[in-house]
Amino acid sequence: MIRINENYLKLKSSYLFSEIAKRVSEYQKANPGESVIRMGIGDVTQPLPSAIIEAFHKGVDEMADLSTFKGYGPEQGYDFLREKVAEFDYRQRGAKVDADEVFISDGAKCDTGNIQEIFAGDISIAIPDPVYPVYVDTNVMAGRTGENVGGRYQKLVYMECTADNGFVPEFPKEKVDLIYLCYPNNPTGATITKEQLKRWVDYARENRALILYDAAYEAFVRDKTLPRSIFEIDGAREVAIEFRSYSKTAGFTGTRCAFTVIPKECMGYDSAGNRHSLHAMWNRRHTTKFNGVSYPVQKATEAVYSAEGQKQVNAIVDGYLENARIVREKMTSYGYQCTGGENSPYIWVNTMRDSWEFFDMLLTRCQVVCTPGEGFGKCGEGYIRISAFNSRDNVINAMERIAKL
Ligand code: MLT
Repeated sequence: MIRINENYLKLKSSYLFSEIAKRVSEYQKANPGESVIRMGIGDVTQPLPSAIIEAFHKGVDEMADLSTFKGYGPEQGYDFLREKVAEFDYRQRGAKVDADEVFISDGAKCDTGNIQEIFAGDISIAIPDPVYPVYVDTNVMAGRTGENVGGRYQKLVYMECTADNGFVPEFPKEKVDLIYLCYPNNPTGATITKEQLKRWVDYARENRALILYDAAYEAFVRDKTLPRSIFEIDGAREVAIEFRSYSKTAGFTGTRCAFTVIPKECMGYDSAGNRHSLHAMWNRRHTTKFNGVSYPVQKATEAVYSAEGQKQVNAIVDGYLENARIVREKMTSYGYQCTGGENSPYIWVNTMRDSWEFFDMLLTRCQVVCTPGEGFGKCGEGYIRISAFNSRDNVINAMERIAKL
C-alpha cells in the first residue's frame, strides 16, 4: 500500500494564489464581457528590456553552434553570473560576499521553500504574521508545524506584525532556532531599518539561531538609509542566508532566475553541538537535486548588470514604484490607512472588513483583483494587499473604479 505524507492533510486545500486564480477564473466565466484588472499576485507586466533580450538571443544562438554549445552547466551557476552578483549586488554596496557563496537557481520561491530540508525536523521556527505563505506551507509539508487550530499551526512561533510595531516583529518570547524575515516585506510593503536588522542579527548570534532573509523586493528600495541586504549588517555572515530574485527586479517571473547567498562562516549544529557548514550542506543538496538554470537565461541575467541593462531595469522598477505611489495616494484619499507603496511594490490597505468579503466586493463590483490579507495569516484579517505590477493605465483605471464604490 502506497502511503501518503499525511502532513499534506494539514495544509489549506489550495495555495493562496491558486485559490485567487480559481475565483477570478470562475467570475470571468460567468461574466465574459467584463475586463478584470489583476492587482493580486505580484506578477510583472512589462516585457524584458532590450539589453536583456539581446543577451538572451545570443545565448540561444550559442546553443545552436557546435563550437559554443553547452550541455550541463555548473549546478551552482556559471562563474560569469556569480561574479557579477558578488560584485554588483554586494561588494559595491559595502557587503562582503564571494562569488562561490552565490547559488543561482530558478526562483526564490523554490529556494525559500527548499532550504528547510537542511534543518532538523524538531527545530523551533519563528514566522511573521502576516507572511508569504510558502515559508509556512513548506514547513507544514515537512512535518514541523503540528496541526492547524483556529488558523494557526500549533508548533510555529508566530511573530505578529501590526500597525503598532510598524510591521516589524518583536523578538519571540520563547527560544527559536530559525527566523524568517522578508524586507521590503511581502505582503505589508513595510521596510526595516539597519538598526532594527542589526538587533535581529545580534539576537540570532546570541541564540545560535539562523535568519532566512528574503530580499526579493530589494530593488524597490530607493531610500538610501535602508538596507538592501542583510549582509550590510555586521555579523550577519555567521547567522543569515539571503534569497534574491530577478522576478520583480528584471521582469523574470516567466523567465526564471534567482539566487541564494550562504556565507561560508554560516554554521548549523548537530545534536552533539558540533558545527557544520550550511554552505556545504546546501551545495550538497543543490548539486543532488538541481541541474542549474539554463545557459541562455543566465546570459540574459548577466545583462541585468551591464550599464544599459541597469538603466533599463531601473526604469521599469521606477514605473512600478510610481504605480505604487498612485495606489497608496488614492486609497489613502478614499479613507483607507495604507502601509507600503514606498520602497515596495505592495500596498497594504486596512479595510476594517472581512478580507475575503472585500476581495469579492472589489472583484464583482469593480472587476479589480487584490489579495485578501487573511491569506497571509491571522494578522492579515481586515487588510487587502494591492500589487503595483501593472500598466499605468490599468492602475489608474482600477483606482477610478474603486473610487466609485
Ligand atoms: C506574491 O504575489 O506574493 C508573489 O508574486 C508570489 C511569488 O513571488 O511567488
